[in-house]
Amino acid sequence: MIIAIDGPSGAGKSTLGKMLARKFGLLYLDTGAMYRAVALASINDGSSLDDPARISEVARSARIELKGEPDSLRVFLNGDDVSDAIRTLEIAQAASVVSTISDVRKTMVELQRRLGEESPAGCVLEGRDIGTVVFPNADIKFFLTAKPEARARRRFDEDKTKGRVSTYEQTLAEINERDARDVSRSDSPLTIADDAVVIDTSELDLSEVFDQMVGKINEKRTAAAL
Ligand code: DC
Repeated sequence: MIIAIDGPSGAGKSTLGKMLARKFGLLYLDTGAMYRAVALASINDGSSLDDPARISEVARSARIELKGEPDSLRVFLNGDDVSDAIRTLEIAQAASVVSTISDVRKTMVELQRRLGEESPAGCVLEGRDIGTVVFPNADIKFFLTAKPEARARRRFDEDKTKGRVSTYEQTLAEINERDARDVSRSDSPLTIADDAVVIDTSELDLSEVFDQMVGKINEKRTAAAL
């Protein structure tokens, strides 16, 4: 079973993706973490983010691995654990830039398809283009969204608990900037697949969204005997 979860940053994709992977015993793939790892590799390499050919080469030669259970997933770049290093604001912005490069996307999509197909029980993938590009035939597709203010509030609260310094206004500006880039890039912009189940999480708490998603998955499983 392949479950695709797409949507903008801060809509709850990671938390819900992990919860679903745990409930159904599936592999969990955070595809944003892969673009973040490419961004980190490019910066470590001293490559300019304005040099698509160089960044594409960095993406091709980087060994990116995701290991562990959904709740304790670790991200490795060329054998080093970079799970914390990829969660900075600088890397978030750089990931949003490198993810506009078609060759980088091609390399990442190949890796994501391979990992998803290799997983015996199936996989939950979350990102921006899973239902539209990576797995257009996914068994079920979700598009999670929320108002920018709600997403910024969640991200800001999360950052605070992790001791990161920013203001709500900075977080909102940063979310708006990344959204604009994600929806306007020419290759695989963030769009809603025709057959996606769209859930606006602005006014819902986590358990309500989770219950809706589980309900839809169970409907599909019963219909398709998955
Ligand atoms: O979900 P995230 O914030 O970790 O993603 C980091 C960046 O990568 C974000 O700007 C969007 C991009 N991305 C993408 O283009 N396609 C994906 N499948 C996942 C993330």
